[in-house]
Amino acid sequence: MKQRSFVMLKPDAVKRRLAGEVLTRFEKRGLKIIATKMMIIDSDLAKKHYGEHSEKPFFKDLVNYIISGPVLATVIEGEECISLIRKMVGATNPQEADLGTIRGDYAIDTGRNIIHASDSPASAAREISLFFEDSEICEYTLPD
Ligand code: CMP
Repeated sequence: MKQRSFVMLKPDAVKRRLAGEVLTRFEKRGLKIIATKMMIIDSDLAKKHYGEHSEKPFFKDLVNYIISGPVLATVIEGEECISLIRKMVGATNPQEADLGTIRGDYAIDTGRNIIHASDSPASAAREISLFFEDSEICEYTLPD
């Protein structure tokens, strides 16, 4: 089934100039980028996006970090792409992420772990609508 996932390249990815390289991985896997924008998130949006972690001890650091620099908010489309992208991203803790995954290859620590990707269809729908208007999402077909 065709799905959409919300993928966000975090400030460490942008500042380390890895954004293009990471997006290229998704393109090479045959996935389709249907929206992307660079933005500096405000703390209201950061708190909404990470609402499920609001009681966690790392919540304040997480919010402060994600608003500390530009992110690349992105919507990616493809067959069963939510779980596929999570596999490509790797474990949250880069020390546990397999080599060959994005975090396993590029990330330094759990806070600065390069990328966020939706973990379920429900979170994808919620996250996409938090960051994008419908009019910002591009429908197009790929060549055969
Ligand atoms: P992300 O996939 O964006 O979702 C929640 C984020 O919380 C996670 O990536 C990590 O970057 C961040 N985080 C910071 N500290 C922790 C922690 N101790 N356990 C899990 N996630 C953490």
